[in-house]
Amino acid sequence: MKGQVVWLTGFLFLHLMAAMAEETQNLKTKTYPFGPFDSSYYDSFAVIKPATISNDALQITPDSVGNFSLNDRSGRIFFNQTFKLWDGDSKTKTVRKVASFNTSFLINVFRVNNSVPGEGVTFLVASNAAIPPGSFGQYLGLTNSSTDGLSSNNLVAVELDTFKQDFDPDDNHIGLNINSVRSKKTVSLSDFGIEIAPNGTKFHVVWVEYNGLNKSIQVYIAEQDQVSSPTPPKPSKPVLSADLDLSSVVEQYSYFGFSGSTGSHVQLNCVLRWNLTVEILPGGNKGSNSFKIGIAVGVPVVVLVLLGALIYYRYKKRKTRSDPNILGALKSLPGTPREFKFRDLKKATNNFDDKHKLGQGGFGVVYKGSLPKENLEIAVKKFSGDIKGKDDFLAELTIINRLRHKHLVPLLGWCHKNGMLLLVYDYMPNGSLDAHIFCGPEKTTLDWSLRYKIVSGVASALHYLHNEYDQKVVHRDLKASNIMLDSNFNARLGDFGLARAIENEKTSYAELEGVPGTMGYIAPECFHTAKATRESDVYGFGAVLLEVVCGKRPWTKIGEFLLLVDWVWCLHREGKIFEAVDERLGGNYVVEEAERLLLLGLACSHPIASERPKTQAILQILSVSMAVPHVPPFKPAFVWTSMPGPDSFSITSSFTNTADITPVSSGWTPHYFSRDAQGELSDGSALI
Ligand SMILES: *[C@@H]1O[C@H](CO)[C@@H](O)[C@H](O)[C@H]1NC(C)=O
Ligand SMILES: *[C@@H]1O[C@H](CO)[C@@H](O)[C@H](O)[C@H]1NC(C)=O
Ligand SMILES: *[C@@H]1O[C@H](CO)[C@@H](O)[C@H](O)[C@H]1NC(C)=O
Ligand SMILES: *[C@@H]1O[C@H](CO)[C@@H](O)[C@H](O)[C@H]1NC(C)=O
Ligand SMILES: *[C@@H]1O[C@H](CO)[C@@H](O)[C@H](O)[C@H]1NC(C)=O
Ligand SMILES: *[C@@H]1O[C@H](CO)[C@@H](O)[C@H](O)[C@H]1NC(C)=O
Ligand SMILES: *[C@@H]1O[C@H](CO)[C@@H](O)[C@H](O)[C@H]1NC(C)=O
Ligand SMILES: *[C@@H]1O[C@H](CO)[C@@H](O)[C@H](O)[C@H]1NC(C)=O
Repeated sequence: MKGQVVWLTGFLFLHLMAAMAEETQNLKTKTYPFGPFDSSYYDSFAVIKPATISNDALQITPDSVGNFSLNDRSGRIFFNQTFKLWDGDSKTKTVRKVASFNTSFLINVFRVNNSVPGEGVTFLVASNAAIPPGSFGQYLGLTNSSTDGLSSNNLVAVELDTFKQDFDPDDNHIGLNINSVRSKKTVSLSDFGIEIAPNGTKFHVVWVEYNGLNKSIQVYIAEQDQVSSPTPPKPSKPVLSADLDLSSVVEQYSYFGFSGSTGSHVQLNCVLRWNLTVEILPGGNKGSNSFKIGIAVGVPVVVLVLLGALIYYRYKKRKTRSDPNILGALKSLPGTPREFKFRDLKKATNNFDDKHKLGQGGFGVVYKGSLPKENLEIAVKKFSGDIKGKDDFLAELTIINRLRHKHLVPLLGWCHKNGMLLLVYDYMPNGSLDAHIFCGPEKTTLDWSLRYKIVSGVASALHYLHNEYDQKVVHRDLKASNIMLDSNFNARLGDFGLARAIENEKTSYAELEGVPGTMGYIAPECFHTAKATRESDVYGFGAVLLEVVCGKRPWTKIGEFLLLVDWVWCLHREGKIFEAVDERLGGNYVVEEAERLLLLGLACSHPIASERPKTQAILQILSVSMAVPHVPPFKPAFVWTSMPGPDSFSITSSFTNTADITPVSSGWTPHYFSRDAQGELSDGSALI
């Protein structure tokens, strides 16, 4: 019986495939070539003020010849006609088919008087033509502070963003926006040698292709010399590619057009040509191909098909045996990265072959993998599958998923199968920082300018975590092996296994057995409070600074000194701090910069947490807009005052050493110490 059902379903499946192939071939489309834009376009376009059509262009925000102020503006222009974007029942939201569309437009984003541009312009698919009030500035004419992120916005936009918000990677990127200006995916265009709004006049052609069959969107961009020049060929590779189910975002009938905004900085957002090709879906009553097949084959078979589908579904469900809680939590995450198939990840890592191992840490093993179909190199983090692992997995995913910063390792997706939990990241071709700093005397090591660039990147990532991202986060495990280097040796902070949002109080080091931060990177107060804070992160940053400049690990014993920081402090007191600089640089470094980093490293290592600089100050010091704080000749004593009782004590000697700062505090597990005794955690491996 079951065999029969499977056979019949297979037979029908083939027929359906054949019907679908036929349908693809007969793709019915309608093409609109728009522009040059004269005032006659006011008849067929919905031009929402203060947008205008002037100077042969759609001026999505006011152009300079108008009577308008250019600041704090937002506008929209639509082709005044809705298109049916999916076929199905809008009440029950059963979707039979999603329309495909292709569009390309010629655009000029112009800086006024060569001043800093702002904010951006988008290609927009929206169910509602009206523009919300207050959608200027960061809201790009899409949403406002009260509506951003609501699914009732019913809009999808491709943004060309020229102004960096907290949540943006930079001030020159493209992004996919779904009901929110916080993009689901962003790509910096600087990586492609494209500047959206350079000084002077530049034209760009943008292609947006949406495939309603495999539900994916691709965006391409190329420069065009002049308005009158022929359209350049579409590049072979998209700058942005993402999964997108239009039917889950916009209403059945929606508009195509543009939106844009300015803020305290302004730009002109001019669209000069626009081609639009949309697949025309069959009308609701006319009946689609699959409906015709249903009638031809007959009702009993339809019942069998349903039965077969049911059996298959239950069989599959049993096989997957995923924890519904975890899946539910994952699926409810906003803007969740994509789910990978376990099969694909297994293949990508050659069945998690040891040869592919990049590193190992408290949470599991990291493997290198490649997805040849997508031409993508990935790093797959496989969690050890206990209950704790699941919580950690969720914690990491929840946090990292919402963090977007060019100096953080980007998360691509996840996979959960048979109790196995996997996270997929961009592969960082240059591995971890420690591998380059502690590579032994024989190998060439990072030159000075790279070292400076790397610590600056780490500082900006830390600042983002501590201040800019709306939910404040402490990293808790800042160390050289958690700093990854991308192909351009940009620092990317990784391993959020330990990161915690500050608000939720779960900042204790002790709560996660066996996986606290690493010796030498841990602020002394943590030995008593067992609680990570922004200040303890800064302490870890100080340790990284010193090891990057000195080329020595924090717990290096030098002469009488058990810790690197104590040795550097002594050299500082004796006025010869430069002797601390890594000898392998052979004197090839910038003296003022080395002094700045070393003194900053000492300042961050201040035993009293409140005396350490904040990340804001660290950034200013690194960019030389603030002087290095005064560092006293003697390392101040660590004084523990806030908690009286048997736990409180103070160290009065001028130099703390390992013996001083390792009272056996309740927060620390033996596991931690045993690892630490060997001087390193995770073999300094490339844990991301
Ligand atoms: C759009 O077109 C409809 C009729 O086709 C018209 O009634 C409406 O005013 C137009 N809207 C705009 C903003 O031009
Ligand atoms: C330009 O602005 C002035 C002053 O606000 C106003 O009197 C005039 O009507 C405006 N002109 C146009 C064409 O809007
Ligand atoms: C969009 O362009 C691609 C080629 O880049 C083509 O395969 C596809 O059929 C086009 N879709 C539509 C709706 O025109
Ligand atoms: C629009 O389509 C026309 C006709 O195919 C083509 O010549 C032109 O280059 C296209 N323009 C853009 C901006 O893609
Ligand atoms: C650009 O510069 C000109 C001349 O300096 C000035 O009149 C104009 O107001 C400036 N425009 C803007 C938008 O700042
Ligand atoms: C653009 O020009 C202005 C003044 O002419 C200059 O200050 C600025 O650095 C230039 N910006 C870029 C990115 O070239
Ligand atoms: C945002 O837009 C909605 C309607 O689209 C409006 O009701 C609300 O007042 C606006 N909020 C702000 C802060 O402007
Ligand atoms: C979907 O189809 C497009 C071609 O229309 C292709 O470029 C893209 O890679 C496909 N995406 C996926 C996820 O298969």
